[in-house]
Amino acid sequence: MRPILLDAASRAHRYLEELEMRGVAPSPHAVSRLSELGGPLPQHPADPEAVLAALDTIGSPATVASAGGRFFGFVIGGSLPAALAANWLAGAWDQNAGLAVTSPTSAALEEIALRWLIDVFHLPEQSGGAFVTGTTMANFSALAAARHSILARAGWDVEANGLFGAPPITVVVGDEVHVSLLKALSLLGLGRDRVMRVPTDDQGRMRADMLPPLTDRTIVCAQAGNVNTGAIDPVREICAAAHDAAGWVHVDGAFGLWAAASPALIHLVRGTEDADSWAVDAHKWLNTPYDGGVAFVRNASDLTASMSASAAYLQQSQKSGRGDPMLYTPEMSRRARGVEIWAALRSLGRSGLADLVERTCRYARRFGEGLASAGHPPLNEVVLNQVLVSFGEDDITRRVIDGIQADGTCWCGGTVWHGRAAMRISVSSWATTERDIDRSLAAVLRVAASSRRS
Ligand SMILES: Cc1ncc(COP(=O)(O)O)c(C=O)c1O
Repeated sequence: MRPILLDAASRAHRYLEELEMRGVAPSPHAVSRLSELGGPLPQHPADPEAVLAALDTIGSPATVASAGGRFFGFVIGGSLPAALAANWLAGAWDQNAGLAVTSPTSAALEEIALRWLIDVFHLPEQSGGAFVTGTTMANFSALAAARHSILARAGWDVEANGLFGAPPITVVVGDEVHVSLLKALSLLGLGRDRVMRVPTDDQGRMRADMLPPLTDRTIVCAQAGNVNTGAIDPVREICAAAHDAAGWVHVDGAFGLWAAASPALIHLVRGTEDADSWAVDAHKWLNTPYDGGVAFVRNASDLTASMSASAAYLQQSQKSGRGDPMLYTPEMSRRARGVEIWAALRSLGRSGLADLVERTCRYARRFGEGLASAGHPPLNEVVLNQVLVSFGEDDITRRVIDGIQADGTCWCGGTVWHGRAAMRISVSSWATTERDIDRSLAAVLRVAASSRRS
C-alpha cells in the first residue's frame, strides 16, 4: 500500500497548499466535470492509483475550500493538523469503535477525550458521553436520555413500550431554536410542532421571564450559540426555573459551549453546567474533520438506559470504566471519531484551545468593525464568532451574497434576521489569519459597492 498512501498524502498536501490560490467556491466548470466520475458501474477492477488520481483530478477542484482560512459560511471549522493526521491514521486502523474489544485504543481515547471535554465545559465529573456524528445526533441522544428519565419516573418504560399510551411530555424551546433540535424531537416521537415556544429577545436569547408553567414532565431546550447571532440563552435562570419543578434542561451548545474554554468568554456560558444534558460539535469550533459531535448526560445511566442493546455475540467489556461505547450511542458499528477529538485537544492543550476560540472571536469583531466603518454596522452584538450584516434593501443584500460567492475571495452565506435579508459571517477556522479577514473584508466591501451601483 505504500505507493498509494504516499500518493494520497502528497495529493492532500498539494490540495491544502493550493487553497491559498484558488477561489473558495468551486468553478461551475469544475462542478460540471463531476459527472466524469459516474457512468455505469465499471465491469472490471481498476488500478487503485488511477482511482485516486481521478478522485483528485476531478473531485478536488469541485470541493468547497472550507479547509482554508476564508470560508465563513454556516458554522464550519477546518481541520487542525494533528486532528487531520489522526483521522488518516485512524482510517488506516479501520477500527469498529462500538465495542472495546474491537478497538481498545478508540475506547480508551474516547474515555480520555470525554474527561477532557467535561473539564473544558465544567460539566459534572460523572456525566456520560456519546461520540456521535454532530450536534443533530448529540441533541437526539441527549433528548432520548431526557425522555427516558422523565418517563421512567412516571413509571413508563419508553424503550420497551414506545410512546403509544405514555404519559405526555411537554417540550419547551426558545423561538430561535435550531432546526436540528426540532428534527431530533421529531425522530424521538416528541413532535416538532407540539413544542411550547418561548419568546426571544433582540439577539435571539430565550426570555427566561416568559417561560410557561413547568412540571416534572417538562424538557426545556436551551441554546448556547444562536446560529445567526452567537447569542447564548440565560441558562442559569432557565435551569433554576425548570429544576424548581423537577424538569429537565438540555443545552444545544453546538458551537457556543466552546466559549467555556476561554477565561475571557466563559462568563457568557455561566450556568450551562447546571443543566442535565448538553450537545456540542467538534467539527465546528474544535476544528476536527467531519464528522464529530458529543452528547453529555449528567446521569450516565439515563443515556445508557436509552441507548443500550445486547446480544449473546456482542462481547460487553467488563474492564473498561464506562463500558462499551455502543452503550451510549444510537449506532453500534461506527468509526473511531474520538481519535481526532483526542488529537485536537492533545495538540491544542488548554491554552491553545482558549487561543483558538478567542482568536476567531477577535477576527469576527475585526470583520464587524471593518463593516461598521464602511457604513454597514452588524445587525447583531458580536459576542462570539458570528457577524450578521445587511447592505440595505433585501435584494441588494442578496446580490452582495451572490456576488461574494462568485468572487471567490471568501464565502459567506445568507439568512433572514428579524424579517430582513442578512449576510452571515462565521469565523470558525483555526486556519483563518488576520490577513484573510482583511482580504475578505475588502472583497465584501468591493462587491457591496458594485452591487449598490448595479
Ligand atoms: C445551535 C446549533 N445546533 C445544532 C446544529 C446542527 O449541528 P450538526 O450540523 O453538526 O448536526 C447547529 C449547526 O450549525 C447549530 O448551530
